[in-house]
Amino acid sequence: MANEQGTSGMKQPVSRASFGNRIGVIAVAAGSAIGLGNIWKFPYITGENGGAAFIIVYLACITVIGLPVLMSEFIIGRRGQRNVIGSYLSLSTKRSPWAFGGFIALFGSATILSFYAVVAGWSLEYIVKAATNSFAGKSPDEVGAMFGSFMSSPVKPIFWQLVFMSLTAGVICAGVKRGIEAFSKIMMPVLLFIILLLCVRSLTLPGSEAGVAFLFKPDFSKLTAAGVLTALGHAFFTLSIGAGTMITYGSYIKKKDNLGSIAVQVAFADTVIALLAGLAIFPAVFAFGVEPGAGPGLVFVTLPNIFAQMPGGFFFCIIFFILIAVAALTSSISMLEVGVAYVSEDLGIGRTKATLLLTFLISVVGIFCSLSFGPLKEYTFFGKNIFDLADFAVSNISLPFGGLAAVLFVAWSLGKDKVKDELSSGGVFFVNYITLFMFTAKYLTPIGIGIVFLHSLKVF
Ligand code: PHE
Repeated sequence: MANEQGTSGMKQPVSRASFGNRIGVIAVAAGSAIGLGNIWKFPYITGENGGAAFIIVYLACITVIGLPVLMSEFIIGRRGQRNVIGSYLSLSTKRSPWAFGGFIALFGSATILSFYAVVAGWSLEYIVKAATNSFAGKSPDEVGAMFGSFMSSPVKPIFWQLVFMSLTAGVICAGVKRGIEAFSKIMMPVLLFIILLLCVRSLTLPGSEAGVAFLFKPDFSKLTAAGVLTALGHAFFTLSIGAGTMITYGSYIKKKDNLGSIAVQVAFADTVIALLAGLAIFPAVFAFGVEPGAGPGLVFVTLPNIFAQMPGGFFFCIIFFILIAVAALTSSISMLEVGVAYVSEDLGIGRTKATLLLTFLISVVGIFCSLSFGPLKEYTFFGKNIFDLADFAVSNISLPFGGLAAVLFVAWSLGKDKVKDELSSGGVFFVNYITLFMFTAKYLTPIGIGIVFLHSLKVF
């Protein structure tokens, strides 16, 4: 796995890890993309924004903004052959200002992980709650109160957050191929199997058709400008772009793999899983006559209620929370790897030490995020608690900015010839979409991202 890239004058790593085969690459990248964003966030923002019409806008955002950024990040990583910051530097000059894009992305991945692990920790607690039949015989209000008192308590959520962080660190310590790739290759089929099983259960409930119509019959009168911006922001989050993840993973993709087709397959898989999550949730929500726009509590309050009432619900509730935990773990490892690759390559700290150090720092920030639902509730900034502030700073500022840097760098600095060379793997693959790609990356995608930015400024 020697590094065969001719990069310009940067310190060269002696050997660099790489993913094994193409299936491995897709499992790993799709594993990063598919996460809480698909199974927790997508269903509730779809519910809040009126269903099918929102989904259409979201699909447009994935195509026009998400895909070009994803491809740009893969290009930077594979051509740069270094971590998120090093890749920018090795493709430009030693002190290039583009490296700032890498720093923003690094900040983003670490910040997301801090609050992501909190929600993922909730799902671990809920696996236990489901397995001990804690929702049986409870009224919807009681299930709601149970969630409220759990998430605001000082100890339990932090315990689970730390368990989750330890699992993440364990996979990262095992390495790129034997940890990240091997784990994702096993977990992604498990995830697909569970979600299909849940879809079958949900779709066979009497009265489920209304949920299917909600997802697939557009009613544009329900779509607001804020909904469009939510869709745009979510396209970044769900594809794991703007956070350096796909640059780092791109650096482990072998030269012979077709980057364009991998990017399309990853975006496609991510979208399919989000829709399947919708199909697992909304038909059941409608079959039981529950309000679809429940917001963040949809998964932790509405669903346990529904499971408690449906045939086989005990079993389906357990596997549902296992699904969330698995999806979150294949994403969290990708966030941690961004920092670990940087610290171990550029700061000369060994991989295991780097993992422990970052896990510690990120967990500390995460503890504050968790406490912001309880003891630290009073501490608000710009009207947001610590958790919401972290989420806002990342989703509305650092991800769009990190993505913008990637796409601008590729389109305007790297230039068409090098981009074509990379996408075609040195002329092996036919890249008939190069003109379309360059045009989109130069103009359409940056304009789209600019709109998200302007929106976040207005919010300030
Ligand atoms: N894409 C992940 C999800 O949908 C979240 C994520 C964002 C992962 C950024 C890595 C980087 O849950």
